[in-house]
Amino acid sequence: MELKIKNVCCIGAGFVGGPTMAVMSKFCKEIIFNVVDINQKRIDAWNNEDLDKLPVYEPGLKEIVSKTRNENLFFSTNVKESIKNADMIFISVNTPTKKSGLGAGKASDLKWVENCAREVALYAIGHTIVVEKSTLPVKTAETIKRILHYETTANKNFDNKKTFAILSNPEFLSEGTAINDLENPDRILIGGEDEDAMNELEKIYLNWVKKEKIIRTNLWSSELSKLIANAFLAQRISSINSVSALCEVTGADVNDISLAIGFDKRIGKLFLNSGPGFGGSCFKKDILNLVYICDHYGLHTVSRYWNEVLRINVWQQKRISSIIVEKLFGTISDKKITILGLAFKANTNDTRESPAIKICEDLIEEGAILKIYDPKVKESQIKKLLPEKNQVNWSYYSSVLEAAYDSHAIVVLTEWGDFKDLNWTEIKKIMKNPSWVFDTRNIIDVQKAKSSGLQTWVLGQST
Ligand SMILES: NC(=O)c1ccc[n+]([C@@H]2O[C@H](COP(=O)([O-])OP(=O)(O)OC[C@H]3O[C@@H](n4cnc5c(N)ncnc54)[C@H](O)[C@@H]3O)[C@@H](O)[C@H]2O)c1
Repeated sequence: MELKIKNVCCIGAGFVGGPTMAVMSKFCKEIIFNVVDINQKRIDAWNNEDLDKLPVYEPGLKEIVSKTRNENLFFSTNVKESIKNADMIFISVNTPTKKSGLGAGKASDLKWVENCAREVALYAIGHTIVVEKSTLPVKTAETIKRILHYETTANKNFDNKKTFAILSNPEFLSEGTAINDLENPDRILIGGEDEDAMNELEKIYLNWVKKEKIIRTNLWSSELSKLIANAFLAQRISSINSVSALCEVTGADVNDISLAIGFDKRIGKLFLNSGPGFGGSCFKKDILNLVYICDHYGLHTVSRYWNEVLRINVWQQKRISSIIVEKLFGTISDKKITILGLAFKANTNDTRESPAIKICEDLIEEGAILKIYDPKVKESQIKKLLPEKNQVNWSYYSSVLEAAYDSHAIVVLTEWGDFKDLNWTEIKKIMKNPSWVFDTRNIIDVQKAKSSGLQTWVLGQST
């Protein structure tokens, strides 16, 4: 199969851009992949000789980077040169929720995407396929098209032979399993109008993905599908979390419920674990964006429906903080509480929108002194997350035992494998009396914790 694409540029070396291009470079040896970013520190980290210092932690990532980096995968801040040389450009920049102005708190802030489009218009040469990899509101391709068209026709210094095709190719990877998801995707979605451009992108994926897994749609279906996929996933989490509260008061066990309903093929077994709520950079922002779009089109009942998914998520976190205070005799002021896990889920160092952070903030607000341990989240990262004035109220430890020493309670907030098999007898000995363990992830061996003398509370169970 003759490939036309020889040189790919990815703008944005983040959680998506880095791993996605790494996997593409593994399977497409004949293509050069240039991943560029304006953040010099991030690029330096991607180029670090020590592969444990890559800016993104994902199982399997460093093994790929060790083989393809500086072979056909390059990381740099040279945006201009990389755009110039590219036949295909992926836009994989951040699209956070707007903080001010029209749509503040709901709409996506597209200023980074717009900047990319302007840079592409400025530096691209000849025909370039521009691929939306970022998650974007439906109809963003229209904006990108307009910018590219306006910039290339209005600027007299430009070579008028520049042409562009726009595609939407949202990324469905899940942090923590990103490499496996990228190597074995459930599906690849390509939205567009230009058949040739769609064929070129499809050819790249065909190097490792079966043709029947590649779905082609128009641009708007592709853009909207990504928002809807995230909304459905988040909705499942909010649904099972609402049930966890009901289980605690009725004597039912949320794990039994998940098992029983998951056997129904129409429901399915995945994504039925209750916990402290969803986090990560995507679910909240994408639902807020969906809510904004629905309101924009006057679909207020639909927007209220999706907004409830977010409300349950906040409610679950507040509910957990309140239970901890209540169990510790109604006050946690000056009490030491061990926090196990800050990442929003296991196998990632990402703490964006982590429910653990929200719960920590609540506990600090109540006067607790937090002793934090996470296998992958660094102290420097936590300093940016927990408010400055509160830094005296938390400290960081490099092992579970150090973090548990002299504590009144342990709260398990991330489902790291290391926390599943803790030595509760040893832990109990170094904690205060009486001491508690709160398991918000349903992962600890409750019987062992109980028999070591700890008092236990497990989410979704009436312990
Ligand atoms: N994180 C996920 O799990 C995930 C999954 C699927 C889709 N997405 C979507 O993918 C997009 C990227 O997410 P992410 O998590 O990788 O974000 P990120 O913040 O980790 O990375 C984005 C990078 O883009 C860079 N950038 C911004 N403007 C730039 C410019 N003009 N030129 C060069 N670099 C620029 C930033 O410096 C940053 O390093 C978002 O739209 C997100 O919603 C994320």
